[in-house]
Amino acid sequence: MCEKSCKEPADFSALAPVLEKYGAVKGGLITVLQKTQDIYGYLSMDAIRYIAAKTGIKPAKIYGVATFYTQFRLKPIGKNLIMLCKGTACHVNGADLIEEAVSEYLGIGDGETTADGVFTLNNVACLGCCSLAPVMMVKGADGDETFGNLTKDSVKAILKEIADREKEVAAG
Ligand code: FES
Repeated sequence: MCEKSCKEPADFSALAPVLEKYGAVKGGLITVLQKTQDIYGYLSMDAIRYIAAKTGIKPAKIYGVATFYTQFRLKPIGKNLIMLCKGTACHVNGADLIEEAVSEYLGIGDGETTADGVFTLNNVACLGCCSLAPVMMVKGADGDETFGNLTKDSVKAILKEIADREKEVAAG
């Protein structure tokens, strides 16, 4: 169908294998959106339009699905995605206080990104390391880092260290 002459945004080429595998599968849209978010960090309107064009599903329907499920993000995320566990074990061990500390320190709430684009905060369900509760995972350029037994002070120190590292990178 669409050969190289098509005006496809070049950066959506990574979606080709995903669409090939799940694009025509009944109920495959959620998987396509999950994989799209994994690749690009969020679901842009361009990505939604691209998926629509490739699958024949109306953009409004895809948008509706993307906004219905809280797992999907429609805005770009920061360089470091803080996944703060709000699962039962973490909740019992003070996850709310940790969230408070993060919000206080960075000035953002759940689902928000700092103005400098360095951090996004996302509350998530169990990260699978409950013995370390309360826990957060930070997804950054260098991969995922997990931090456990958090306190209000330790979480601020961790965020400061990451912010300092980012400043050094920005300064070259
Ligand atoms: S409840 Fe937080 S890691 Fe399991």
